Amino acid sequence: MNSEIERRRTFAIIAHPDAGKTSLTEKLLLFGGQIQVAGAVKSNKIKKTATSDWMDIEKQRGISVTTSVMEFDYNDYKINILDTPGHQDFAEDTYRTLTAVDSVIIVVDGAKGVETQTRKLMEVCRMRNTPVIIFVNKMDREAKDPFDLLDELEEELVIHVRPLTWPIESGPRFKGVYNLYEHKLNLFQPSKQVVTEKVEVDINTEELDNQIGVPLAEKLRGELELIDGVYPEFNVDEYLKGEMAPVFFGSALNNFGVQELLDTFVEIAPSPRPTKTEEREVEPDESKFTGFVFKITANIDPNHRSCIAFCKICSGKFSRNTPYYHVRHEKTMRFSSPTQFMAQRKTTVDEAWAGDIIGLPDNGTFKIGDTLTEGEKLHFRGIPSFSPEMFKYIENADPMKQKQLAKGIDQLMDEGVAQLFVNQFNGRKIIGTVGQLQFEVIQYRLENEYNAKCRWEPISLYKACWVESDDPEELEAFKKRKYQYMAKDREGRDVFLADSNYVLQMAQMDFKHIRFHFTSEF
Ligand code: G4P
Repeated sequence: MNSEIERRRTFAIIAHPDAGKTSLTEKLLLFGGQIQVAGAVKSNKIKKTATSDWMDIEKQRGISVTTSVMEFDYNDYKINILDTPGHQDFAEDTYRTLTAVDSVIIVVDGAKGVETQTRKLMEVCRMRNTPVIIFVNKMDREAKDPFDLLDELEEELVIHVRPLTWPIESGPRFKGVYNLYEHKLNLFQPSKQVVTEKVEVDINTEELDNQIGVPLAEKLRGELELIDGVYPEFNVDEYLKGEMAPVFFGSALNNFGVQELLDTFVEIAPSPRPTKTEEREVEPDESKFTGFVFKITANIDPNHRSCIAFCKICSGKFSRNTPYYHVRHEKTMRFSSPTQFMAQRKTTVDEAWAGDIIGLPDNGTFKIGDTLTEGEKLHFRGIPSFSPEMFKYIENADPMKQKQLAKGIDQLMDEGVAQLFVNQFNGRKIIGTVGQLQFEVIQYRLENEYNAKCRWEPISLYKACWVESDDPEELEAFKKRKYQYMAKDREGRDVFLADSNYVLQMAQMDFKHIRFHFTSEF
């Protein structure tokens, strides 16, 4: 069992939209033998197998809305890539996915440097001490100076960095990268199909001058010396603690520098790590199976309307048709057709190990955060909901379809598509999201999957805060004073809907014994 778990590498690629996440994912799949044709990102054939665009809406918009899982074997390793939606409106989905990975590769556009979304995602990684590798992409285009880029990464992402490859120029002058780890020169050939040429060079010999010309060779020697002077030796332990990020340069589109990244990644990235529960820490090599649901998604196969709950295995081995304990429902369940994934293709799996992600067919039995065990009452932690940024009343637009609407809203909320609050004053339902697009997805899916129509009505709110207090009287007094702004979340917890920052600050001042939380985990 240990060797099965040891060889697993479960990670996510995260990036600001357009930095090259899809291109990089495709190249990794290529090395894993999952797709046969190199390059041509836009080729429909590849697009079909390699992307995770499951829903029509995302096809129309070209935005990856849902998160999918792709897995393959590479050398002796089993790789599980968890794809994340690039669009910031689906940030919650990405945060949840980050709870299921053991490490992360961040893709940064060499010309743009660190962008907003990258910064936010890194914050979540930092909260969990997730080990991070950085891939600076698009070096075939005019890029920022690599030293400036490293400074920017260090400052903006608040992590120490250590380059493991080093670019020789960029844009049309881009010659390739020098592998600081293996002391090899990797020469760039601007082609999506051809495997690049690697040359073993001693940088102090003429070989380097012959390969890239005397001026660039001199410059490279100087830069390498500087790197050795400025950056400490690469230390795997610091990387594993999430304190230092190794940096690679390359071009995902041209499949340049990707294999170096992958080879180093499998070697240094962690195998499944222990997972915290409310009761205790679960070690991956415990003999008994445990896992938690971090994502639920519908409509993977447009021909069969079905939901799939994505379960991360935290310990032991999962076997098909074996009774497992659903902790929230307090009942035993068997799964006859659990699946593993390759984008749209999915296959039935007989057994899976800690680190793997399995898909469990779901007809409403699962909620985000649900735990499965062999009987132990465990509750996995760390799937937070953050206070939404946007709020709207949701109203029924077809009186004949009241039931369908209620069911649709319920199931979409179980999937974690958005958050639902019920105003205690007027009983109206309020949907909270991170961005406008989520409202559109909800409306679209209610119509297409539940045959229900909804209408949005404006409500001006600033934040939703979960409130609690050790002083029940004060809490009651607060709820009385703010009765128009009190709501319940789906777990029945008290939520204060503040309509402005000012109101929130006043409330915090007036009610000193009440704690206002901006995430649902406290
Ligand atoms: P994303 O998933 O992070 O959003 O990025 P994606 O891979 O879709 O890449 C975004 C754009 O950047 C694409 O161009 C892609 O071709 C381009 N790109 C990715 N990697 C590289 C690289 O290494 N070098 C260069 N020069 N470009 C790269 P697009 O305009 O959306 O499409 P296309 O018509 O250019 O293919």
